[in-house]
Amino acid sequence: MSCFSCINPRRKGVRRVETENAPRSTSGHSADSSVSGKGRRDSNHNENGKGKEGLNDRKCGNPKSSAARSFTFRELAAATKGFKEVNLIGEGGFGRVYKGKLEANQVVAIKQLNHDGLQGFQEFIVEVLMLSLLHHSNLVTLIGYCTDGDQRLLVYEYMSMGSLEDHLFDMDPGKDPLSWNTRIKIAVGAARGLEYLHNKASPPVIYRDLKSANILLDNDYNPKLSDFGLAKLGPVGDHTHVSTRVMGTYGYCAPEYAMSGKLTLKSDIYSFGVVLLELITGRRAIDATKKPGEQNLVTWSRQFLKDRRKFVQLVDPLLQGRFPLRCLHHAVAITAMCIQEQPTFRPLIGDIVVALEYLAAQSNTSELHNGRVRSPTVQSPTKPQSDVSWESDCRTSSTSA
Ligand SMILES: Nc1ncnc2c1ncn2[C@@H]1O[C@H](COP(=O)(O)OP(=O)(O)OP(=O)(O)O)[C@@H](O)[C@H]1O
Ligand SMILES: [Mg+2]
Repeated sequence: MSCFSCINPRRKGVRRVETENAPRSTSGHSADSSVSGKGRRDSNHNENGKGKEGLNDRKCGNPKSSAARSFTFRELAAATKGFKEVNLIGEGGFGRVYKGKLEANQVVAIKQLNHDGLQGFQEFIVEVLMLSLLHHSNLVTLIGYCTDGDQRLLVYEYMSMGSLEDHLFDMDPGKDPLSWNTRIKIAVGAARGLEYLHNKASPPVIYRDLKSANILLDNDYNPKLSDFGLAKLGPVGDHTHVSTRVMGTYGYCAPEYAMSGKLTLKSDIYSFGVVLLELITGRRAIDATKKPGEQNLVTWSRQFLKDRRKFVQLVDPLLQGRFPLRCLHHAVAITAMCIQEQPTFRPLIGDIVVALEYLAAQSNTSELHNGRVRSPTVQSPTKPQSDVSWESDCRTSSTSA
C-alpha cells in the first residue's frame, strides 16, 4: 500500500509503520508537548465534564498503584543475572525483554532499549510519562525505569502468560488453543483498558498501538494493555482530531489515519476491531505466508462480514466448532462496526464494553450441546451506535451452524 511507503523495519521485521507524508504539526493537542514538559496541561482542570480522571491525579484508576521508581543499571543487571540469554522472554521494536527478580524477590519484566536512534528515546519518555499517570487493572503496571548513562530500561510487572499473540498464532500442536470464553474475556478486559484511556483519562489518550502483541496476559488470562510509547493525548475543546506522523503497526492502522495522519479516538476503535477479528479467526492481521487475497485479515474478512450465514466461516478452526453461535453473531457484528471505513460509524468504546460484557455473560451461561456450545435465548443489551444492526443479528442467531 502506498500509504505505508516508509515501512520502518525494526528488529522483528516489518511490524511498525511510519509515514512521513503526513503533517508533523499538531492541531488540537498532542502528547509531544507533555513529553517535552512544555505546555503540559493542568489536568486537574477537567474540561470534559465529570467522571474523568486527570492525568496528574495519582489516585486515578487503580488505588493500589504506586509511583514508578528509578533503578540503577547495576540493580537491573543483577535482577537478570547479567541479562543472561536464558532470561530473555521476548524482543520487539524497542529492544529485548528479560525476566528478572528484584531484591525483594519480586518477579518483573525488564525491557532494554536498543540504541538505534531518537525514536526509541522518545518512546521511552512517553512510556514512562503515560504509565506514571495512568493506572487501571487492564493496563500493565510500570514498576520503574533506568536512565543510567545512555542506558534506557523499563521495569514492568511480569505477565506470566506473555502476549495474546503467543496464544493465538503458530500454536504448537500439543498446546490447547484459547477457548471461546477466554477470547471474550480478553476482549472485555482490553476494551475496558481502552475505555479507561478514552473516557476516564482527561484529556483522553489515544493509544495508537493496539494489537495482540501489546495485550499481555496474567496467570488467569486477564489482559493488560502495554507499550504506550506511541500514545498521544487526544483532541480537546472544538478540535476533532490530532494531526501527526502515522505511527502504528501495519494491518492495525485505521485507513483514514494511515492516509491523512488525522488521529482520533476512532483510530483506536479500528485497531480494536482488528484484534477482535484476530480473536475470532485465529489469523494474524497481516500474514505474508498466506496466499494472495488472504494476507490482509480485514480485506479477507469483508466477504464474510456482509452475510450472517457466512460468519461461521470466519471462526478459528482450532475452536473445532466450540463456540455459542448466537455469541459469535454478536461478536462478528461488533467487529464489523469497529472496522468500518468511515470512522464516524464506528462505535464508541463505552458501547463496545457494554456489548462485550453482555457477550461474556452469555458465553459463560452457554451450555455444551452435541459438541457445540449453545446459548440461551436472551434480550440484547444497549444497542451500539452504528449502521450495523445489533438487533437483526440477535433475531437470526438461532440459526444452526
Ligand atoms: N510485562 C511483561 N511480562 C511478560 N512478558 C512480556 C512483558 N512485556 C513484554 N513481554 C514479552 O516480550 C515480547 C516483546 O514485547 P515488546 O513489547 O518488546 O514487543 P512487541 O510488542 O511484540 O513488538 P513491537 O514493540 O515491535 O511493537 C512480548 O511479546 C511478550 O512475550
Ligand atoms: Mg509490545
